[in-house]
Amino acid sequence: MVQVWPQAKGFAADPVGAMAAIHRRYGPVACMRILGDLLVFVAEPELVGEVLLDREGIFIKDKVTHSLGRFLGQGLLTSENPLWRRQRRLIAPSLTRRHIELYAGAMARAADRYARARVDGELRDLHADMTAVTLEIVVETLFGASFTGSVELVGQMMDAVMHNFERVSRSWKRKLPEWAPVRERRSMDAAAGVLDAMVLEIIRERRASGVLGDDLLSRLIAARDDAGSGMSDEQLRDEAITLFVAGHETTANALTFALMLLAEHPEEDARRRAECAAVLGDRLPGVADLPRLRQSEAVIKESLRLYPPAYLFGRESTRAFHLGPWLLPPGTTFLMAPGVLHADPRFFDDPAAFRPARWLDGSADAAPRHAYVPFGGGARICVGNHFAMMEAILCLAVFGQHLRLERVDRRPLPLQAAVTLRPAAPLRMRVRRGPPPP
Ligand code: HEM
Repeated sequence: MVQVWPQAKGFAADPVGAMAAIHRRYGPVACMRILGDLLVFVAEPELVGEVLLDREGIFIKDKVTHSLGRFLGQGLLTSENPLWRRQRRLIAPSLTRRHIELYAGAMARAADRYARARVDGELRDLHADMTAVTLEIVVETLFGASFTGSVELVGQMMDAVMHNFERVSRSWKRKLPEWAPVRERRSMDAAAGVLDAMVLEIIRERRASGVLGDDLLSRLIAARDDAGSGMSDEQLRDEAITLFVAGHETTANALTFALMLLAEHPEEDARRRAECAAVLGDRLPGVADLPRLRQSEAVIKESLRLYPPAYLFGRESTRAFHLGPWLLPPGTTFLMAPGVLHADPRFFDDPAAFRPARWLDGSADAAPRHAYVPFGGGARICVGNHFAMMEAILCLAVFGQHLRLERVDRRPLPLQAAVTLRPAAPLRMRVRRGPPPP
């Protein structure tokens, strides 16, 4: 394994670019020390599997993920065993394919409201719009249609939390202890406090009223473990905020990238809009349509391959670990970048090209396990992956019924690898209204 000192500088600014360069130069496994931490970059599917599948039960989440605990508390994303296992068992049943069918209506209606509000020829910032659409969806599916708070306020508080979190995690200040007076952390705490109080109030009202609906929060309130115990109010709050954070921006970015790629490839756009017209006509899509919206599904899978919103995930070993032939000490951080794995020409022919057809002709499915990991893998695979795919396909289908988007700016979109991979600048699009081509 090669130590890659020279790239250390570029890593903080552009982790994915730096990792791609490291692997091109040094092969599928390389290591580096940053501020005393040993980081090992892994880009071989089989070795990625060894870490994610964690057969010896020795991995915990990496330090950056744990630092999200400052505002996510001990929710599914940040917690560790034994709490994580109990919580995953309580939460996963509410997010299976069958259970989330209930949310298809909310997803399609939010997309439809957006599409119908568009005026032919208007200029929009697509990323801001997709963030607003997915925010509406997450609020309705998580808290129910009766949510009476301000969706805008929730969005603003989320922005403040994420913005300040990113500023700290990219600077030397992240090494300061949690109690140290750091301005960004104080701003983050203030915004997170507003969200915490709001969610706790909803939980207490629900419990007090005794009326539980079909929304995710109601399901979490009703969930019981084998011993018949449910979650405390504080645990429910942490889980609700985690689902909110993990489920919102990722899907917004996935939709943004998919629509950008379609605008850049009008022939692909025409093909999938024709499919929407043939399958749906004028009506809103529902769960039963999903198996027939194959082009839209292929577009989402292909854009998650090229632009994976969760662009980096990590694990820290709690004991010495053999990765292939290398013995690594406890406390090593293993980092895996889906974008690097997804660009491997051994598994994806012409990997830089946007070719949804590779998901229809079976060629992409022939890639080995863990070569395509937009949702991670192993026991900690994204618990919301079916939810996200359903949401993205339904939204794309509704947009395809009414809208065609044109990119205003021809230059490549600058990207920002923050908590998620997202556009670094507004993504300006001109909206064209009208039915799909015959
Ligand atoms: C396109 C959209 C999404 C992408 C790309 C994505 C990606 C991921 C990835 C890669 C992980 C694993 C991280 C790791 O192994 O360290 C993860 C975990 C998680 N995701 Fe997602 N996600 C998406 C949507 C969602 C949605 C819609 C929800 C909720 C409804 C959600 C909730 C979660 C949670 C709670 C975890 C932690 C699971 C655990 O550790 O048990 N995600 N996500």
